[in-house]
Amino acid sequence: MSSPLALEAARRRTFAIISHPDAGKTTLTEHLLLAGGAIRAAGAVRARGENRRARSDWMKIEQERGISVTASVMTFDHDGLMYNLLDTPGHEDFSEDTYRTLTAADAAVMVLDAAKGIEPQTLKLFEVCRLRDIPILTFINKMDREALDPFELLDEIAGKLALDPAPLYWPAGSGLRFRGVLDLRADSFIPYVRNSDEPLPPPTPFRGAGVESYLAPEEIEELSDSAELILGASKTFDPKAFLEGHMTPVFFGSALRHFGVEELLDGLGLFAPPPKPVSASRSAHDTHIAPGEKEVTGFVFKVQANMDPNHRDRIAMLRLCSGKFTRGMKLKVQNTGRQISVNSPIMFFAADRELAEEAYAGDVIGIPNHGVLRVGDSLSETGALRFQGLPNFAPEILRRVRVKDPLKAKHLKRALEGLAEEGVTQLFRPMLGADFIVGAVGQLQFEVMADRLANEFQLEVIFEPSPFAEARWVSGGKAELEDFTGKHRNAMAEDIDQQPVFLAKSSWEVGYVTERFPAIDFHRTRERG
Ligand code: G4P
Repeated sequence: MSSPLALEAARRRTFAIISHPDAGKTTLTEHLLLAGGAIRAAGAVRARGENRRARSDWMKIEQERGISVTASVMTFDHDGLMYNLLDTPGHEDFSEDTYRTLTAADAAVMVLDAAKGIEPQTLKLFEVCRLRDIPILTFINKMDREALDPFELLDEIAGKLALDPAPLYWPAGSGLRFRGVLDLRADSFIPYVRNSDEPLPPPTPFRGAGVESYLAPEEIEELSDSAELILGASKTFDPKAFLEGHMTPVFFGSALRHFGVEELLDGLGLFAPPPKPVSASRSAHDTHIAPGEKEVTGFVFKVQANMDPNHRDRIAMLRLCSGKFTRGMKLKVQNTGRQISVNSPIMFFAADRELAEEAYAGDVIGIPNHGVLRVGDSLSETGALRFQGLPNFAPEILRRVRVKDPLKAKHLKRALEGLAEEGVTQLFRPMLGADFIVGAVGQLQFEVMADRLANEFQLEVIFEPSPFAEARWVSGGKAELEDFTGKHRNAMAEDIDQQPVFLAKSSWEVGYVTERFPAIDFHRTRERG
């Protein structure tokens, strides 16, 4: 028999939504919360967003650009299951942040705009999911607008993502002619009624007379023919292939009209996996931590600042991997050995933050702290465990940063270190010279950074072009490393954990030194810990 711990973990569904901006991620989030009973009226998520923006200056960027740059977690209990929805930032400049968030998700919902199909950002995010073998459910949104032919949409999924689409529903028309969807497994029709404030009518057997109230005879024939065609042309949904990341169940709907959303939520409950064992190492031995293990363990996948500007707090988002966490518990950070008493852990229930009295594998708790916890930290009761696979990416843009008022140089150092600890940007301190080099995956990160430095630290900074274009973490034997460092003093730097980094002027130079120094390993990513 399964232990109570394993049973608790088994009822968790921790997932993220991935999409190209504008496909409807925010709207779907809101309607999933509505379907899950976490909020009562649509508009609540946005209202909360406005509220938050009004209180926090730097989030003006979000408002001005109309994008979401902060990720958060929302938890809701529905039909006996506990859902943790991880919000991923929508803008492509934040792909590193998104990647990290996806390390904490057990499944993803891919939202496609029915009129657009697979868009560039969908593809990028999908690749991240594939890298981590995260099973994906597909929601084809905006069926209430003119859409591409559904056969074409499925072809795109198969062609561009090399993923077998298995439709569970099939749409009858789109836009003004959208009538609803056929549940291919139950052979029942779910009618869509435009502009209705009434609850949607219940499903009706497709082969029965009731369906005639919703579909004209030629529409019944058309739907019947295309459903037959798609059932013949596509593979039947196979939960195993889905869990292995080869197949995606496809849902059609309209998030805005709350159509197809309940079906998606049910699908998540039925098919999305509960937390799995996670790879880790203990005293240099590789191991797996099963969700039902007694020791409380987890890793920090994000550090969020300024959720409450009245307290200069940072909140470390801890994804629990095993055990039963209870408030007040002491946990140890593996790489620093520091022990923290987690007295005010937070869980995020739609509009509110609440103290978490207990939490299990799959849950995410926010731990307020003042810089003790970093992205990639592994926490556990013994402190002996380290989770694998939370890399730091080599930044794609490097800039030299200077503060306008030279008297504030010390201030700048502390502020930059803080932002790097949160994982907002990466910080490199060259061995020679006094200027810091900051690295980011996209241009927008510099703007966010400048804004935060001005508002939170009263520092006016200038980002200047840096002579360097690439950063690589280096490792190797002691003597070889010393030799390499000695020969490249002008190009060596340390990251915030004092790890050596080689800064190159071009990717050509990276190739050149890689060939000349075969005893040195050059890494694009570095695992923390
Ligand atoms: P995102 O988070 O993926 O960027 O997308 P978001 O939910 O903000 O949706 C982008 C736009 O698409 C919004 O319109 C939203 O109302 C609309 N939308 C989302 N789902 C549906 C749907 O199922 N059907 C239709 N017709 N529209 C949908 P907007 O005009 O940009 O914003 P707003 O003024 O409505 O807030």
